[in-house]
Amino acid sequence: MAIQWFPGHMNKAKKAIAERIKSVDMVIEMLDARLPASSENPLLAQLARGKPKLKILNKQDLADPERTAVWLSHYNAQTDTRALALDASDNNATAKITRACREMLPGRNGIDKPLRVLIFGIPNVGKSTLINGMTGKKSAKTGNEPGITKAEQRLFLADDFWLYDTPGMLWPKIIVEESGYNLAASGAVGRNALDEEEVALELLDYLRRHYLPLLQRRYQADKDPSSHWQDTEWLEWIARRRGAVLSGGRINYQKAAENVLTDFRDGQIGRITLETPQQWADWFKKARQKEAALKAEREARKAARKGHTQET
Ligand code: G4P
Repeated sequence: MAIQWFPGHMNKAKKAIAERIKSVDMVIEMLDARLPASSENPLLAQLARGKPKLKILNKQDLADPERTAVWLSHYNAQTDTRALALDASDNNATAKITRACREMLPGRNGIDKPLRVLIFGIPNVGKSTLINGMTGKKSAKTGNEPGITKAEQRLFLADDFWLYDTPGMLWPKIIVEESGYNLAASGAVGRNALDEEEVALELLDYLRRHYLPLLQRRYQADKDPSSHWQDTEWLEWIARRRGAVLSGGRINYQKAAENVLTDFRDGQIGRITLETPQQWADWFKKARQKEAALKAEREARKAARKGHTQET
């Protein structure tokens, strides 16, 4: 399944971000700690190339702590990049973020040289929650100001620390199939752009392979035979346990899928991360190979068409 989601307003947001990025000193990229690489917007990563970057792995309370540690080391090893794990309950978020940014750019301070930071992230990553917590009493939001478009907002975290907030956005084409599923499972993709049953089955398939004990505990499935169940058997089991059964005993797959997705999003199954740096690298490689093969196929067809036209 290819999950595609790029409504018109996201195009506008993209243009505003592309313009603003030119005049900021660094960017904060908010990622979902449960799917760090999948929640990284390649479009914006490209626009922000060359700028120092603070990656916030947000909603860490829902993610697997061991995997979060792996992701943090992975990002902290990259040049001009720092990474922090946060969640909405962290009262020190502002201090942690401003300290990390100032450490990255110690030369930018004082009102003559304010540190200008742009923050972006996918929808639902928790950016509004974080910013609302940060702005509290300490800072003021700017109103209608020349040079500040409707699609962005400038916040003064200190006289010499400006934060440009931008609307959450996805990108037009998600080439890594697994990323599409992970984004959908996390709740970043609008409901009408996805098939919940398919997303739930993919999620169950990942969970049964990587988090089986959590799945067994949440849905009270005995070790034997559930250790051997495939995704559909899991969905059917969950449907029966949750009463998602239609007249005549038929399984209500849609309702069961909604149950699984809600449980995952609320952290009811446990603290789960849907990808590791290695897994993501493998998926990315596979997706690139698939794209290249498709391109070669298209070109071969085009060449064959041309040859055919020249012959006739
Ligand atoms: P956005 O601006 O990036 O789109 O995200 P927003 O802050 O609106 O947060 C999206 C959802 O994620 C909200 O839940 C919010 O409460 C929840 N959230 C934000 N940060 C965290 C976090 O660190 N941990 C967890 N577990 N959840 C977080 P909602 O169900 O859409 O709304 P509500 O429950 O707040 O009413």
